[in-house]
Amino acid sequence: MERSGRSSKNQGSSKTTKSNSNNSSSKASSSRASSGKKDTNQSLLKEFFIEQLQDIYWAEKHLLKELPKLQKATTTEEVEDALAGHLTVTEEQVTRLEEVFDMIGEPAKAKKCEAMEGLTREANNIVEETQEGTATRDAAIIMAAQKVEHYEIATYGGLVQLAKTLGLMDAAELLAQTLQEEKEADQALTAIAESSINEEGAQEEEGNEGEEEPEDEDEEEE
Ligand SMILES: [Fe+2]
Ligand SMILES: [Fe+2]
Repeated sequence: MERSGRSSKNQGSSKTTKSNSNNSSSKASSSRASSGKKDTNQSLLKEFFIEQLQDIYWAEKHLLKELPKLQKATTTEEVEDALAGHLTVTEEQVTRLEEVFDMIGEPAKAKKCEAMEGLTREANNIVEETQEGTATRDAAIIMAAQKVEHYEIATYGGLVQLAKTLGLMDAAELLAQTLQEEKEADQALTAIAESSINEEGAQEEEGNEGEEEPEDEDEEEE
């Protein structure tokens, strides 16, 4: 209760600050001042944009080393193929990031992404903790891979927005292509997870049928 009171107070004061810029009598001077402020904001935003590019550049290159390890650990060909396919896509994404760096006149530099390092470490642990050749191993790998995809989706989503705000429309377009690929990878993994759950369910049912043999099958059909 106390907290909500305090936060509404803060909101009120920030609103007051914002409405000041609408004062028409000091419009000329304030617009000059605010354009200077705007330039600073833009350059800070661009700096942040570049840092985030460096972060995801490191993350993608790191994945080029980590995806093959996960691929080897899979149980079914379906999951292995999905990871292999995404490895090829990831190679293209690295090249695409280099194009974005080039577009904005910055050297392609990688800055260690702690989050991606953590996610891949967790993926490796999960492989160690699950039994080789089991459905559980695949389920665990799919889940770990989806965590990676979700991190990438969040990052590229943010990068597309930042690029647009900075007026870097060509860069935004390239980053949006990668964002789409990450979403597709995530959806493909979901589809595999769902189909293998169905498959396992079907196998269980088959097992039960042998024991129980339902005799009223015809009655249920319409
Ligand atoms: Fe990626
Ligand atoms: Fe990805």
